[in-house]
Amino acid sequence: STQRTLVLLKPDTVRRGLVGNVLSRFEAKGLSLVALELRTITAAQADEHYAEHVDRDFYPPLRDFVTSGPLLAAVLEGDEAVEVVRALNGATDGRKAAPGTIRGDLSLSNRENLVHGSDSPESAAREIGIWFPGL
Ligand code: CMP
Repeated sequence: STQRTLVLLKPDTVRRGLVGNVLSRFEAKGLSLVALELRTITAAQADEHYAEHVDRDFYPPLRDFVTSGPLLAAVLEGDEAVEVVRALNGATDGRKAAPGTIRGDLSLSNRENLVHGSDSPESAAREIGIWFPGL
């Protein structure tokens, strides 16, 4: 059934000039853009988005990274969009992600892994509410 999911093209995607490459994969798959905005977030906003990770040891450098420059926040819509986006993104660690996926093709890092996609419909609803409260 049709779902919406929250996608971030993280600061490494913008910095490396890969916005077009990454966005075109979602578009070519057939997902629709519902919202799209370039934004630089604060540490407090990062903490809200990554609420389930704030106590992890990898979080402080992750927070520094996601606040390090502009990122592109998007809401994508389509049939089974949550799972479809996660499949396109590939495994979290770019070194292990399968070729053909965004991370597998374009990232060599576990932190600077280019994209975020909501991990469930419930997470998507929460994250869309944070990033695009008007939707
Ligand atoms: P994301 O899908 O946005 O969800 C949490 C993020 O934390 C993840 O992508 C990575 O950017 C980062 N991350 C997860 N695990 C690790 C780890 N072990 N080391 C560094 N960064 C991580």
